Amino acid sequence: MSSDQRIPVAVLGATGSVGQRFIQLLEGHPWFRVAEVAASDRSAGKCYAVATEWRLTAEMPESARGLKVKDLGEELTSPIAFSALPGDAALEVEARLAKAGHAVLSNASAYRMDPDVPLVIAEVNPDHIRGVERQKANKDWAGYIITNGNCSAIHLTLTLKPLYDAFGIDAMLVTTMQAVSGAGYPGVPSLDMIDNVVPYIGTEEEKMQEEARKFLGSYDGGFKPADFGISAHCNRVAVRDGHTECVSIRLKQPATPAEAIEAFETFRGRPQELDLPSAPKRPIIVRHENNRPQPNLDRDVENGMASTVGRVRECPVLGLKYVLLGHNTVRGAAGASILNAELLKAEGLLPV
Ligand SMILES: NC(=O)c1ccc[n+]([C@@H]2O[C@H](COP(=O)([O-])OP(=O)(O)OC[C@H]3O[C@@H](n4cnc5c(N)ncnc54)[C@H](OP(=O)(O)O)[C@@H]3O)[C@@H](O)[C@H]2O)c1
Repeated sequence: MSSDQRIPVAVLGATGSVGQRFIQLLEGHPWFRVAEVAASDRSAGKCYAVATEWRLTAEMPESARGLKVKDLGEELTSPIAFSALPGDAALEVEARLAKAGHAVLSNASAYRMDPDVPLVIAEVNPDHIRGVERQKANKDWAGYIITNGNCSAIHLTLTLKPLYDAFGIDAMLVTTMQAVSGAGYPGVPSLDMIDNVVPYIGTEEEKMQEEARKFLGSYDGGFKPADFGISAHCNRVAVRDGHTECVSIRLKQPATPAEAIEAFETFRGRPQELDLPSAPKRPIIVRHENNRPQPNLDRDVENGMASTVGRVRECPVLGLKYVLLGHNTVRGAAGASILNAELLKAEGLLPV
């Protein structure tokens, strides 16, 4: 596809942590080009390069620098809107855009548990995208909202999916060590993070518990959550990017560590079948060293789009345990939305 045929997209909240990641990942995308950016009143009216404190190691893409930041009240012309807005702003803005006919692909929590809104990981529950037809009818919207999950829930669920399919899941405990960038910028004050672990991230545990069950649930004219027990402990640690999670799990049909490793390593989903542009070749990477995964060694594997699993071993209480790691602003946010948009396009569900 030549560049002038690419689908124009808008990025909402484009100046923030996730918004910047969208701008970076969409640069040179074969199907989409960033045509509009929008953010708060603080940024509206300025050009993107002036409004944005760019904090990624790669340079700000030249094509984004001169875009004028729109106010969220302004009309958008792009058929697709990627949203990296805070939840409260997303509630009103995303519904208004969906009503007007846009496909909204959101990172915000506002609509994730709405009974009409698909919560999708492209490898885990691609069939849930069919829920947009019911959403449009029920809400009387010309467009729709599809959400991706909480950053920790996405990586957890990506690793649960092969276990769920092969052995069934009865119950699990998960303890996270989440990077500071997960709180946006400036996020947690530096004096709270240095020499410290903060054992509380507001509403994070509830999100992980609810979202994992919705992702792994079924869609048959309505979303039915999967039936297993899950308890999450969420902690903020002094890591820049990359969430680490320790999982202990009781499977319905017990599996040895070797069987679990085989399920992780052979797992492939719809994005790999369709060879979508942002799909990792291997959605789950297994490391066999005793001291992996680690955030600063493993978060960028498969361009940040895979989850890395390690220390797969027996758990004396629940049967099996392992550690997982994933990039929070790539596969845990912007990259997940972009992959969902690619899936929608491949399945003929984009409004273009
Ligand atoms: N960070 C992560 O790892 C992560 C992962 C998954 C999901 N999420 C979700 O993604 C969303 C964005 O998170 P973030 O970490 O990128 O946050 P952030 O760094 O604080 O960025 C927020 C963005 O939204 C804009 N904004 C803030 N208040 C607004 C308002 N009232 N009206 C319009 N625009 C407003 C900001 O614009 P200005 O620059 O103009 O203020 C900025 O562009 C949140 O819903 C978050 O829960 C984040």
